[in-house]
Amino acid sequence: MTDDSHDGPAADRSTADDGSSPGADVALDGGTAAGADETTLDPWGSSAIADYRALFAEFGIEEFEDVLPDVPEPHYLMRRGVIFGHREYDRVARALERDEPAAALSGFMPTGDPHVGHKLVFDELVWHQQRGADAYGLIADLEAHSARGLDWGAIDEHARDYLLSLLACGFDAEAGELYRQSDNRAVRDLAFELGIGANVSELASIYGFDGETNVSYMQSVVTQMADILYPQLDEPKPTVIPVGPDQDPHVRLARDLAARTQFFGVTEAYASFETGPAERALVAEAYEALSAEHEKDGDTTPVRCVEAAGWLAEHTPQQPTLTGETFEADTPVREGAVRKLRAAGKEPLRPRVRFLDRNATDEAFAALIEAIEGEKRVYEGHVDSFELSREAAEALAREVGIEHGGYGFVAPSSIYHRFMTGLTGGKMSSSVPASHISLLDDPEEGYEKVEAATTGGRETAELQRELGGEADECPVYELYAYLLAAEDDEFATRVYEECVGGERLCGDCKAQAAGLMTEFLEDHQEKRAEAEAVLEDLDVGFDTGG
Ligand code: TRP
Ligand code: SF4
Repeated sequence: MTDDSHDGPAADRSTADDGSSPGADVALDGGTAAGADETTLDPWGSSAIADYRALFAEFGIEEFEDVLPDVPEPHYLMRRGVIFGHREYDRVARALERDEPAAALSGFMPTGDPHVGHKLVFDELVWHQQRGADAYGLIADLEAHSARGLDWGAIDEHARDYLLSLLACGFDAEAGELYRQSDNRAVRDLAFELGIGANVSELASIYGFDGETNVSYMQSVVTQMADILYPQLDEPKPTVIPVGPDQDPHVRLARDLAARTQFFGVTEAYASFETGPAERALVAEAYEALSAEHEKDGDTTPVRCVEAAGWLAEHTPQQPTLTGETFEADTPVREGAVRKLRAAGKEPLRPRVRFLDRNATDEAFAALIEAIEGEKRVYEGHVDSFELSREAAEALAREVGIEHGGYGFVAPSSIYHRFMTGLTGGKMSSSVPASHISLLDDPEEGYEKVEAATTGGRETAELQRELGGEADECPVYELYAYLLAAEDDEFATRVYEECVGGERLCGDCKAQAAGLMTEFLEDHQEKRAEAEAVLEDLDVGFDTGG
């Protein structure tokens, strides 16, 4: 949810914060921006994303559309594709569906006024809370102070404003939790522990930190890791982090750290030796093929490792050359698999789940061995089970880990929303007042800003009637879809179709949007006023600045 570029260490890798540069964060595929072949997601950089599709291919963010059918009564931001991507959200959707424990957490850097872009995240938190998830909203004051250099007086003021707007959007502070990073002892302790699992070179390569980066800035990263895992301190549970895609590097690191703190890892294997994922896929291929052959021949002996080695060597893909000859497309991975299988000789190949000892105490490892039911085999540093499913094995590993003092974190999930386009074109930025509508703007001011917004309209009314407007390029249409149409899909669709069909002209369209914006701001600000009393009763302090 970062909206401003600033001069943090990673900023020099992205283009200027003028909203005009399409390649600011993510380069177009083979595009025109300088350094277009380098795609970066920068949490502290500018957040105009030129091509959301690049995020799927380059970063392994999954398409939200794929999980949408599994989400019970999806939010309109989900239905309209504003939430476009996710990491393992299926886990959270399943928990919501089955009324199992789940959590949702997001954080806000109090660097300016909350604006309509932040409202997306407020709504996402509230939606999850209303569906039974534990919800958390936090103020990233340590980050604002260390990464943005904001002073505590300003931080206090903005912190209040964010929380009031979150409450005004329907956050239930009794059911959920609101906190400031600086006030949360458990988060700060967890940050310290998690920091042990990450080193400086790693942070440098993820975030572009270098020798000049201040130490507290780095600490704010581990603090965010702790924020993300905090909902699971009492009990591990699927947790979603609704954020903009600029925060994905944080999500990935948190997912890694969740795995690294685990007492036990769980993988699948076919024999006693260790393989990497690519080798394992080859072994699996040989195993499947040979089992089928054995069955066909009525051969009841097990498939043995040497046999699989032979099969793999024989089935090396032949690559044609330009002259029509072929050569063996052997890869180091295939060679590695063949070597390991040969070395294992007559050992039978059998699918199994493997528990790896990562951070376990001897006691915990012994307890795990004890707890595995059915046929198992114990090795140095790992145990294989021949009867458990992978899911059951993961649950067991977590349970034993927790019983022996481990965290047992489930990898956090995330959902990503599109950034709103600024009203003046380019990106929406907290530091450019005309580009956004602040949730604190006077309703009349909101009206004026919408009236003054750039549109996807044609030069003349005649052309607009003839060609239709470009709703997909229009910040005003975005306001309808992201905010003003609220639950009313039919209305959002109507605006779109009338626009592209040439029946809607920008003057009237903006006046209608401006009117709705005024109503929205009036209503929101009334609710903010009511929320003052609620905030008063919470023990969140706003006097850090003295
Ligand atoms: N880094 C986030 C931002 O730039 C703020 C943040 C801090 C956050 N902790 C978090 C976001 C945990 C999501 C989850 O706005
Ligand atoms: Fe945008 Fe409305 Fe004009 Fe269409 S008619 S381009 S939606 S302002």
